Amino acid sequence: MNVEEISGKLGWLPPAVARVIEKRMKKIPAVKKMIDAENQKTMIAFEHSLKPYKNKFTTYAALPSSGRTHEEILHDIQSMHDLESSRWKEGYVSGGIYHGDQAHIDFLNKVYALQSQSNPLHSDLFPSATKYEAEIVSMVAHMHGKGKTATSQEVCGTVTSGGTESILCAIKSYRDRAREERGITEPEMIVPITAHAAFDKASQYFNIKQVKIPVTANYEATAESVKRAINNNTIVVVGSAPAFPHGTFDHIEAMSNVALKHKIGFHTDCCLGGFVVPFAEKLGYKVPVVDFRLPGVTSMSVDTHKYGYAAKGHRWCSTARRIFATISFMPQPIGRVVCIILPPWPVRVREL
Ligand SMILES: Cc1ncc(COP(=O)(O)O)c(C=O)c1O
Repeated sequence: MNVEEISGKLGWLPPAVARVIEKRMKKIPAVKKMIDAENQKTMIAFEHSLKPYKNKFTTYAALPSSGRTHEEILHDIQSMHDLESSRWKEGYVSGGIYHGDQAHIDFLNKVYALQSQSNPLHSDLFPSATKYEAEIVSMVAHMHGKGKTATSQEVCGTVTSGGTESILCAIKSYRDRAREERGITEPEMIVPITAHAAFDKASQYFNIKQVKIPVTANYEATAESVKRAINNNTIVVVGSAPAFPHGTFDHIEAMSNVALKHKIGFHTDCCLGGFVVPFAEKLGYKVPVVDFRLPGVTSMSVDTHKYGYAAKGHRWCSTARRIFATISFMPQPIGRVVCIILPPWPVRVREL
């Protein structure tokens, strides 16, 4: 039996059982040898596809002994750019480039050139960063229910480096809040199997047990699965609108109602749909409500770099509103929990 056949057989077992068997089997020398050989084969195949420039361009593993000219550097970068852009310009990628029109790219490039030295940490020097952030947050919040929430609750938010960071910020906030207010030390979050890998990262970074729920034959997570998975340690339920693998919407309204009933948070991952759903609704398409108009939705992640047509590597946005919005004696908005408060830091920022 080879590694593929073994993993095929383990795939039929419940994941927890499969994990235990896999761990034990890896300790058998013959199996370990077989796995190492397979890994080696995979790495060689990966290396070829992930490092196609090996031997084609000079590799600089350390600073070169003599400096290179700007022309040389620009030449290398231009060559790799040309090799890489032909594929997406031919329209063969999805989920990597969201706009691609040259006039739009030229406009973005002008904006980024003007902003290249801006450092948001120094808002006294660059108050424009604060203005842009506040405007992005406010615009996105209005697109997703600000002013139309069931209980007139505030919607606040923050701009992050990407969808993954937005998700990490939200999940960390739920963990901290649950620990502080409910004394939960072994937190769990309910996540559909189709949700983005960012939730796996959050689970590992913040030590939160992920309870994965299945999806229907149409790849949608349902309220029934949430009901089965919820327990006293659950701090948040996650739903995607839509999920990356199939573009399908989880049953956000019904799932968030279950979360509301249990007085726990609900995160709508709208990274992919955040700049499509509100406009589709305005155009009269029948789209489900997935945002802060639903009383159970307590946080969202929305990516400006996807269908907001900004470029990756700059700014993204997550909006959040008061967690447990209906309970007024829990006043702190989740957006405030996102901010990290540090003890006094031994650095003199500037003379006052
Ligand atoms: C539904 C969904 N959530 C989260 C993310 C993560 O976003 P990012 O790649 O900006 O970290 C993605 C990215 O494709 C996504 O499609």
